[in-house]
Amino acid sequence: MIRLGLIGCGGVAESRHLPALRRVRGVRVAALADVDPSRLERVARRFGAARRYENYSDLIEGGDVDAVAVCVPPTLHADAARAALDAGKHVFIEKPLALGLAECDRLIEAAEARRALKVTVGFNLRAHRLVRAAREIVGRGELGEVKLVGTTFTSGARLGEGFADWRTRRESGGGALFEQGSHHFDLLRFLLGREAEEVSAASGRADETATFMARMEGGAQVVSAFSEGTAESHAVEVYGARGRLRVSLYRADGLEQFRVGEYAGAPRVRLREAVRTLRALPRVMQRSARGGDQLESYAEEWRQFVGAITRDAPVACTLRDGRRALEIALAAWESSATRRAVRLDDTKAEEFCQQWTAKHQETQA
Ligand SMILES: NC(=O)c1ccc[n+]([C@@H]2O[C@H](COP(=O)([O-])OP(=O)(O)OC[C@H]3O[C@@H](n4cnc5c(N)ncnc54)[C@H](O)[C@@H]3O)[C@@H](O)[C@H]2O)c1
Repeated sequence: MIRLGLIGCGGVAESRHLPALRRVRGVRVAALADVDPSRLERVARRFGAARRYENYSDLIEGGDVDAVAVCVPPTLHADAARAALDAGKHVFIEKPLALGLAECDRLIEAAEARRALKVTVGFNLRAHRLVRAAREIVGRGELGEVKLVGTTFTSGARLGEGFADWRTRRESGGGALFEQGSHHFDLLRFLLGREAEEVSAASGRADETATFMARMEGGAQVVSAFSEGTAESHAVEVYGARGRLRVSLYRADGLEQFRVGEYAGAPRVRLREAVRTLRALPRVMQRSARGGDQLESYAEEWRQFVGAITRDAPVACTLRDGRRALEIALAAWESSATRRAVRLDDTKAEEFCQQWTAKHQETQA
């Protein structure tokens, strides 16, 4: 039984990880940490963790845990993860891995010096049932050469109350390009097995809404839209020379595949899709009763991480994967500020973003 200490009892911990962890065998949440004592107390009471800490170093040093989950805002990821590694703990780090590439490199170096410890990044879409099915279809070549990918990830997160301040600023890891975009930057690499070569992005309304384009190795072109200020949607479409697929992540029967020449509205295709939907209905009802595929993707990423620890197997998402996604996010940031396309191989995106932040802070002061 792995004893887990979770640092940061905010939104993702309370509504995703802690409920998901209840259904994962071989791991027990033994300790929680949060700087906000009332939140810590409430979450600990709700999920029944024995030990509580306001200072995360105390959890790492004295919490009697084998593994640590870092679920604090992104500016704190690298320090907390480094402290956990130094204390000999396995580490799960929420996305984005960090805000700077140098921090990623220091983490990678620290992890490589402690090979017995497992370290992973929480890109839960890699563990999503429909995303994995889509990846297999692409991997088997059923779509032929992939030429175009379209993705959308939107939510009404900023329309309600209690939107954390750090989430409104890209320099603290917030904004649509970092919060939602980083999920899709990893997803593109995971789905296609290719790296991004060049990106361009535009971001408006205090980074509430952003658009992104990329050219991947092999030539596939990507167009994505992200927003934290509109109705919820989460979809990925992959178009190849032999067919296309569409994944609607908020629908349990949301994986559709069409051959070239097949129109979604044609009677035969509609009938086929209606039969597929009806057949899937019993499983859809079962899955929604258990929190749906979204919550299950978090449980599955924990099963993968627990499996990596107990069987000494590779993790599903490495620190290098986390660094790659950050490289794309930084290049998208540079592009959105300069209004120019940015190549991934010669970008000085990190330097650019640091200068941008310094200038921005000066202007605000
Ligand atoms: N994988 C996903 O789908 C997903 C979804 C949401 C958020 N996230 C990521 O998870 C992380 C946390 O996001 P969130 O939405 O839960 O943020 P949040 O602002 O809701 O919660 C952060 C929590 O960390 C606590 N905290 C801040 N500083 C701390 C410190 N020094 N020590 C201990 N606790 C501290 C805060 O009090 C707060 O409770 C971010 O990196 C975010 O990008 C991932």
